[in-house]
Amino acid sequence: MKAIILSGGTATRLFPSTLAISKQILPVYDKPMIYYPLSTLMLAGIREVLIISTPRDIGPFEELLGDGKALGMSFSYAVQEKPRGLADAFIVGQDFIGGDRVAMILGDNMFYGQGFSAMLKKAAEREEGATIFGYPVKDPRAYGVVEFDTEGNVLSIEEKPEQPKSRYAVPGLYFYDNDVVEIAKKTQPSARGEIEITSVNNEYLRRGKLKVELFGRGFAWLDTGNPADLLNAANFIETVQTRQGMYVACIEEIAFNNGWIDKEGLLKQAEALGKTDYAGYLRSLVRE
Ligand code: DAU
Repeated sequence: MKAIILSGGTATRLFPSTLAISKQILPVYDKPMIYYPLSTLMLAGIREVLIISTPRDIGPFEELLGDGKALGMSFSYAVQEKPRGLADAFIVGQDFIGGDRVAMILGDNMFYGQGFSAMLKKAAEREEGATIFGYPVKDPRAYGVVEFDTEGNVLSIEEKPEQPKSRYAVPGLYFYDNDVVEIAKKTQPSARGEIEITSVNNEYLRRGKLKVELFGRGFAWLDTGNPADLLNAANFIETVQTRQGMYVACIEEIAFNNGWIDKEGLLKQAEALGKTDYAGYLRSLVRE
């Protein structure tokens, strides 16, 4: 399975911080934001990743992540000329996807919690259909929202409903079979002029091929939309890392644990990061 990290958009809610740089490169505590969604894909066992961003911002992503070989992975890059909608990623990325299954994660979506890796692996192993997730939030009006019947079957997904039919928002993490390319191409733009991922998910539902996995209590799906969200996310990561002495979204550690790089590869990465705590953490993994 391949994957796309969609990292475009203009992030106007973070102006002036994002006037000259992509939001998804801004730090969340001690590492660039895109490390968090990238680590999610790595935990799912995915090694081939396409990063999509704007004409202005694609360069810095390439500079940051390179060709992926240092992590035992393969990274490609593509430009989305205009923010035409999340489902546009499958059109921009169609050559990369080829005949494979594909996951997509939004470059600003951060997840953390026990049992996550197992959930990801299960979703990545499904040969057919789509897997999306539901996460309970206090106010779901800003998201795609799942509607269930009394037996827990999914009835519909609505994009940003005024009156949500449940508290379950759909996070920006999706797993699809290869049909997604053809479905995205046939999707008509919504009232806000975007090719909505929610329309794609509703098409899978109509075909009887949509699976919705629910996250429970104790799981974190963090927002990074405005300055306060960003600070809260950074504080959350700092709290967990300092208390446990284990890093969240350390891409080199995950590559090492997955057996994609060896001790030498890990040390080489540490070398490039100077005398930072991050580099020290990588060195400590080799000693363990
Ligand atoms: O975060 C989860 C939500 O993401 C879902 O619950 C919604 O169903 C889904 O539509 C989406 O809602 P948003 O309103 O948050 O999407 P937004 O337009 O803010 O785009 C999400 C990210 O993707 C953002 O960082 C910008 C980037 N983006 C967006 C569009 C529309 C692109 O890179 N290209 C695009 O064409």
